[in-house]
Amino acid sequence: MNAIRFSDLCAQGQVTGKRVFIRADLNVPQDDAGHITEDTRIRASIPCIRMALDAGAAVMVTSHLGRPTEGVFTPADSLAPVAARLAELLGRAVPLVQNWVDGVSVNAGDVVLLENCRVNKGEKKNNEELAKKMAALCDIFVHDAFGTAHRAEASTYGIAQFAKVACAGPLLAAEMDAITLALANPKRPMVAIVAGSKVSTKLTILKSLASKVDQLIVGGGIANTFMLAAGLKIGKSLAEPDLLSDAKDVIEAMRARGAAVPIPTDVVTAKTFAADAPATVKAATDVADDDLILDIGPQTAALLAAQLKAAGTIVWNGPVGVFEFPAFENGTRVIAHAIAESSAFSIAGGGDTLAAIAKYGIEKQIGYISTGGGAFLEVLEGKTLPAFEILTRRANA
Ligand code: 3PG
Repeated sequence: MNAIRFSDLCAQGQVTGKRVFIRADLNVPQDDAGHITEDTRIRASIPCIRMALDAGAAVMVTSHLGRPTEGVFTPADSLAPVAARLAELLGRAVPLVQNWVDGVSVNAGDVVLLENCRVNKGEKKNNEELAKKMAALCDIFVHDAFGTAHRAEASTYGIAQFAKVACAGPLLAAEMDAITLALANPKRPMVAIVAGSKVSTKLTILKSLASKVDQLIVGGGIANTFMLAAGLKIGKSLAEPDLLSDAKDVIEAMRARGAAVPIPTDVVTAKTFAADAPATVKAATDVADDDLILDIGPQTAALLAAQLKAAGTIVWNGPVGVFEFPAFENGTRVIAHAIAESSAFSIAGGGDTLAAIAKYGIEKQIGYISTGGGAFLEVLEGKTLPAFEILTRRANA
């Protein structure tokens, strides 16, 4: 990574007394009552904030939360629960500041959280006037929002163009270093798990991984489309029949390299999508017209677990079944434990994946857990993310 690192600026004493604007990704899942259900991203943002405070900076932190309508603030968009969690983790007050674009009052040695930056008009489209105003708030802009590194918005890209100094925070730098290192010379066999509801949202990554990995395990709705492509019936399960030829291309590209996309041999089905729907294990060849496939079967799970245990490198993005429902969580649980027990270097990312890792308590047995969802996938695809493009440009200017 050729960007200026915030840690270097701190070590060189260039941060003391400076106004530092940190763009973090504190976009965390919440339940209906607004309680944070998974706080990995908040915990991951702490080292950068501490680094700035320890260096004696006046610290402003912001993030988006969800996808609010610009110019319209509702209580559900508020970072208030995040401010409370940050205060607990930092052991100090973290005041939440509203309407901050035209000026922020913060003393050296203190930290404030600036309310949801996506409520500002012009944020998503990277409005230049908005970006210049944000840049004027600080002496140093720190991009530490890996989860948002694939977006070019005013608080992630425009501000980096116009701030006096623009650099990479420790999380952004660590994510990039870890993923690049893991993929540069991966230990073989390399197994990737790509699961999720739609092939269309993950087609590029599937195609890209098809040229790199030895086993490409597909799960969820994606697996259903691949089962269709393999000539199996999937009943009324979620699938994208118009992407059958893409799925066939991926299978063929893998086969031509002596690699494989394992197609489930057994599945767990239900007649309705509900936590209390009776679950039936059946052969993949026996799926009825009114069945919904909600998990892989035990035979498939055991086979995949054996492959994962023998792997040299594992990339994990997405649960293989509806793991939120106990009757349909077996496949994801077996896979999670196989990854945890494998001696392979494992790298995992994506919101649902983080939730599964937390559910099965295997955080410490994963080689690297990325805070990125879309950003994680785009780095795996080999794309240059806007965050790295602009920070590299600023470092070389
Ligand atoms: C994510 O959750 O993947 C990031 O916070 C980016 O969110 P976005 O897809 O709404 O830009």
